[in-house]
Amino acid sequence: MKKVVAYVGSRNKNSSTLKLVSSIKDAVLAISSSEIKFNIYTPNNCNIMPDDGSASAFKTGVDKIEEARIDDSLQLKKEIKDCDFLILASPTYAHAVSGDMKILIDRITYWNHIFYLANKPGQIIVTASGNGFLKVAAYIRQILENCGVVFCDDVIQTDSRILSDIDITNSALTIVNQLNLSNEVFVPSAGAEANFQHLKARYINSNKSFFEPNYWKKHGMFECENLKEYFQKVLGEKK
Ligand SMILES: Cc1cc2nc3c(=O)[nH]c(=O)nc-3n(C[C@H](O)[C@H](O)[C@H](O)COP(=O)(O)O)c2cc1C
Repeated sequence: MKKVVAYVGSRNKNSSTLKLVSSIKDAVLAISSSEIKFNIYTPNNCNIMPDDGSASAFKTGVDKIEEARIDDSLQLKKEIKDCDFLILASPTYAHAVSGDMKILIDRITYWNHIFYLANKPGQIIVTASGNGFLKVAAYIRQILENCGVVFCDDVIQTDSRILSDIDITNSALTIVNQLNLSNEVFVPSAGAEANFQHLKARYINSNKSFFEPNYWKKHGMFECENLKEYFQKVLGEKK
């Protein structure tokens, strides 16, 4: 069974972002011929605490809040790691992601340096009254591409462009198509590829007792010429 996980960064009880993601979920379940589990998380059903600021996860790979189990990050991070398609949906707040989306992004920033979500397809969904939404989508894309996520086209809804049933069906079709491609190697963005080369050069001679260079060594990342080759390796190990 294929798994889709969506995190919606709105705690609005009448969230338009949640309504949009729920409509896409219904369309995905209606279209797909195979069984799909589609879990939607929001700050109202999943408590993610702000980062503690220690930056220790970059050195140790251990997220202390997750380890202490004082919020729901253990479950959400596992769901994100294990899913076949990831959706990150945020309203636009003051031309930026919502505070709740930023909290989640802060908590997974250390995944940026290890391409922890290598070869995972995803979609960014942004809602707004009408300003600043491009910056929001670009920001989520930049951070998550550096975790290894490969995004299809963004879904944007504003007050003057409420998505139609056809738009929702198209978005659902994209997700179902990507799920059907999950035995394929996706093409990383130029930015993610450049970041892979940058980090490779930085870690190759670093002390391997630190988490990040150690992770690269353990996962055979130094032996990969490029990020696409690493995606291929990750896919091969998944099969
Ligand atoms: C605190 C706050 C800040 C906002 N800032 C912006 C903004 O900068 N640009 C914009 O177009 N809409 C802005 N909005 C409107 C929301 O982005 C928009 O209504 C969105 O669809 C709300 O999603 P939700 O119903 O899922 O919470 C803001 C709304 C709130 C509550």
